[in-house]
Amino acid sequence: MDSGIGGLSVLRQIEHLLPHERLIYACDQIHLPYGERSLEDIQRLTEGITRYLIGRGVKLMVIACNTASGAALHHLRQTFPQMPFVGLEPALKPAAEQTRNYKIGVIATAATFRGQPYARLMEKYAAGMEVFTRPCPELVLLAERGAPWNADDYRQVADILAEMHQAQVDQLVLGCTHFAFLLPLIQAAMPAQTAIIDPAPAVARRVATLLQDHALAAPLHASPSPVEYMTTGGLESFRLQISTLLGSAPQHLQRLQWQKEGSMLLDSESAR
Ligand code: DGL
Repeated sequence: MDSGIGGLSVLRQIEHLLPHERLIYACDQIHLPYGERSLEDIQRLTEGITRYLIGRGVKLMVIACNTASGAALHHLRQTFPQMPFVGLEPALKPAAEQTRNYKIGVIATAATFRGQPYARLMEKYAAGMEVFTRPCPELVLLAERGAPWNADDYRQVADILAEMHQAQVDQLVLGCTHFAFLLPLIQAAMPAQTAIIDPAPAVARRVATLLQDHALAAPLHASPSPVEYMTTGGLESFRLQISTLLGSAPQHLQRLQWQKEGSMLLDSESAR
């Protein structure tokens, strides 16, 4: 799950690594951006979607959103102790291992920077480093709007990253899954030698390991089935976003509706 399209950057890696698994992608575009909400709000919404997906029989749940993971992962693990969860966190660890000049940039949402898990990461990995941070709600919206990119979009991203560019950070952590879809703009805004860290491939490997560990992996002869995509937002715009970002039209698309603010989700119209 994610608030919006960001988690598709994780989904495509999981699909690539584990083509035999059945995948359901649910996002909550009606409540986007999560990063501008209170931690309680994010926790409540994330729990609602998780509860719905567990009701649909999922065997493992990926919170493909740094914001939702930071606010809710601990709570989810306590609430659903039987369910294996994979969450996301800004990749400070690899950045700290790889930096040569001890200057790291992190872009994420305001809620991610405010959360306890981020503070713990900083404590653990950022000692002796100069860490430049920037909450970027505007980039979440830009990623949701999607390509084609124009000169203003490039300028906006360059302005946001100007301080990190000037500081010559040699690692830039994408601490929000949406930002993977802005890679060309981010690369253009940073010096060529800056490594840009997208955690999605590592998350997919973690999913594979956890499935093995829990003896939950689908048999290799299982025939691949199309991903089920769901959103609480508009179906037609979501269809277009999936086609543009993943390069093929969704075969199975469904709208989810909140029963009432904060409670479980119900399936509603589906479209093929
Ligand atoms: N994709 C989400 C993340 O990784 C955040 C987007 C939002 O603010 O809704 O943090």
